Amino acid sequence: MASSSPHPSSLSLLVGILLFHSLLLSGSVKVVSAGNFYEDVDITWGDGRGKILNDGQVLTLSLDKASGSGFQSKKQFLYGKIDMQIKLVPGNSAGTVTAYYLRSEGSSWDEIDFEFLGNLSGEPYVLHTNVYTQGKGDREQQFYLWFDPTANFHTYSVLWNPQHVVFYVDGRPIREFKNMEGVGVPYPKNQPMRLYSSLWNADDWATRGGLVKTDWSQAPFTASYRNFKADACVVSNGVSSCSSNSSGNPWLTQKLDANDQRRLRWVKKKMMIYDYCSDTKRFPQGLPLECTVKS
Ligand SMILES: *[C@@H]1O[C@H](CO)[C@@H](O)[C@H](O)[C@H]1NC(C)=O
Ligand SMILES: *[C@@H]1O[C@H](CO)[C@@H](O)[C@H](O)[C@H]1NC(C)=O
Repeated sequence: MASSSPHPSSLSLLVGILLFHSLLLSGSVKVVSAGNFYEDVDITWGDGRGKILNDGQVLTLSLDKASGSGFQSKKQFLYGKIDMQIKLVPGNSAGTVTAYYLRSEGSSWDEIDFEFLGNLSGEPYVLHTNVYTQGKGDREQQFYLWFDPTANFHTYSVLWNPQHVVFYVDGRPIREFKNMEGVGVPYPKNQPMRLYSSLWNADDWATRGGLVKTDWSQAPFTASYRNFKADACVVSNGVSSCSSNSSGNPWLTQKLDANDQRRLRWVKKKMMIYDYCSDTKRFPQGLPLECTVKS
């Protein structure tokens, strides 16, 4: 019976429910990518080390001594709320980096980065984040996580709208990059970005600053992905799917409420291990503008 096709009426019911949901979520203009890796991404490198499984519900990337692997979204976005569930390389993952980021093209690119730096068994991963605007980064913040990211899937999200970029872990904001164009800090707002992810070897710097090398006897290293969701303005041929009417796109104006602010402060106090805005040694000429201006 497993090979029989779905019952026609349950199929049309399913299609009806999906249609209703996408209308509900999207208004009439916004495109929602939700949950099929065959439709949403291309595996771009790794010679078979990246795989789409379970009818498109799961994607895995792997790394061995010869190569890592990676994928990218088929679509480009200009503003959106992007979610992905990731289960990171378990066991001794020292030296490996799982990168998950949005990036535009060209030499003056914008980029919003999550990078997960592996570690020895039982030692904590580091979540490394950065924001590039017009080709300039140097805005690292690093965190420990409050759970073991290799035991289960967890949701890593980016909210990107005209007011701010917010990084979330399981719905908890961990970092906010505000639009401070008013004081002269460039903000990502013109260049559409694609989602990328890759698993690669970075044992020259990743774990304890490069002291701990990748143990290739543990290879292949594998990270798993599911439930990709892009509630976003999709750009194709220079045209955005979003009209100026944002009422169907609540994330376009989404702010951090008092509870979000409180949770963000908690992460900053308890989980943050590096903040470029506190690194006065690194910026002898003075901290970057966005670190010093009150907004
Ligand atoms: C790895 O574990 C060590 C020891 O607990 C810790 O200092 C370091 O921050 C961890 N993460 C990385 C990526 O080095
Ligand atoms: C904006 O779109 C919503 C539906 O998504 C509609 O109800 C509303 O009338 C629209 N407003 C304008 C000004 O077009």
